[in-house]
Amino acid sequence: MDDIQSLREALRQSPNNIPLKILLAEALIKSALFDEAELQMKEVLAIQHEHLRANILLARIFFLQKKYSAALVILEGLVERVDSNPEILLLYAKALFKEGAKEQARTYYQRALKINSSYVDEEMDNEFRLRQYEKNVGNNEDEEDFDDEDDSIQNFEKPSINFTHVGGMQYVKEQIGLKIINPLKFADLYKAYDKKIGGGILLYGPPGCGKTYIAKATAGEINANFINVSIHDVFDMWLGSSEQKLHAFFETARKNAPCVLFFDEIDALGANRNDMKNHAGKHVINQFLSELDGVASNNDGVLVLGATNVPWHLDPAFRRPNRFDRIIFVPPPDVESRKSILEILLQKKPVNSIDYATLAKKTADYSGADLKALIDICVEDKLKESFSSGIPTPIATKDLVKALDKHKPTAVKEWFQAAKNYALYANDTGLYDDIAKYLNLK
Ligand SMILES: Nc1ncnc2c1ncn2[C@@H]1O[C@H](COP(=O)(O)OP(=O)(O)OP(=O)(O)O)[C@@H](O)[C@H]1O
Ligand SMILES: [Mg+2]
Repeated sequence: MDDIQSLREALRQSPNNIPLKILLAEALIKSALFDEAELQMKEVLAIQHEHLRANILLARIFFLQKKYSAALVILEGLVERVDSNPEILLLYAKALFKEGAKEQARTYYQRALKINSSYVDEEMDNEFRLRQYEKNVGNNEDEEDFDDEDDSIQNFEKPSINFTHVGGMQYVKEQIGLKIINPLKFADLYKAYDKKIGGGILLYGPPGCGKTYIAKATAGEINANFINVSIHDVFDMWLGSSEQKLHAFFETARKNAPCVLFFDEIDALGANRNDMKNHAGKHVINQFLSELDGVASNNDGVLVLGATNVPWHLDPAFRRPNRFDRIIFVPPPDVESRKSILEILLQKKPVNSIDYATLAKKTADYSGADLKALIDICVEDKLKESFSSGIPTPIATKDLVKALDKHKPTAVKEWFQAAKNYALYANDTGLYDDIAKYLNLK
């Protein structure tokens, strides 16, 4: 109330101050003083008819006063003007819903979430989730109901890279070999020893150090298909259909076995379930866990890899046996690895006796992605040079040294600053032992 008083006072001093009027209206709405808020917004709109914020607030005021059709009139105009504002889309969806236009409401709600998934609304969620559920039960959970299946095929590819294109990362290659590649190559031997197969590998570490890259190369290594699922693909269709989406990815992988199914930014999916405010997220996680368990029991040539650079946000349920039961730290490349990454990256470019050892020494703290950026910069410089002379000259060590100044690595250092705290203070389960070791903390 104090806010409101002082805002009213301020407005008396400068009566046509639009930002003040907006602030006052927002405060009034919070205190359910809708009439005064409405008046304020109408005054703003009298001065500036198109004022976006004032229009949104007026629509909200109408909505809260249950004047749904009045709200809709404003919102229709707004949606036409700006079609990518999740606040407008959500309010529009809610007003449509109140007016009985459920299908339309669903569409606009979905659109709002697609733009920003934090615009979840309990009422909308309950309604649409429930209906989705009824639909599934009505169909006896018939698989054919998962009609989004074709969509996921877009992420489908047969990679042309294999382990020879990945510099360093020896330990990761070994682990992937043991746990993922061998069981597929020597299925009969595993059977002979009654050795269980299953479970996935989760890679974690600082950005740009080759997690996504090696996942892809794993598929290439065994000539398997590769599906890269970004968690956004799953959450796009937040409403109920996220579960179908997820199921569809696993189904597509099963149909196209052998197949590496790679979940990037898996933390978004596995965000500690307790942290999840809305229950919609929990459904998706549970679905994911049961799909993982299914892969383990079927042993059908679906290899699951995941990656994250925030392992501390991961749901512990992910780490149980036969799920992601091997969690591997992917460190920044050491000097030898940097040497071989540079060699790989320059393989197909015109070069002149590059001193790889020196460059590798000069690039401490550079991730694989940083090294790639370095070379991109260098190539651009060389291109510019050759535009004037018309002759392409090969890349030399000094060109790369010059480029060092233009690209300083930051991401890796920043990551370790955060990781260090977890390794020091939240390492009861030993999950961060590898980070601690890397940082010489123990
Ligand atoms: N070991 C490596 N050998 C060759 N190239 C590499 C290596 N590591 C990284 N790169 C290059 O850097 C690029 C970025 O790496 P990648 O996308 O795999 O990093 P990431 O660990 O998945 O990062 P993020 O955590 O940001 O997703 C790759 O596309 C590749 O070109
Ligand atoms: Mg990645």
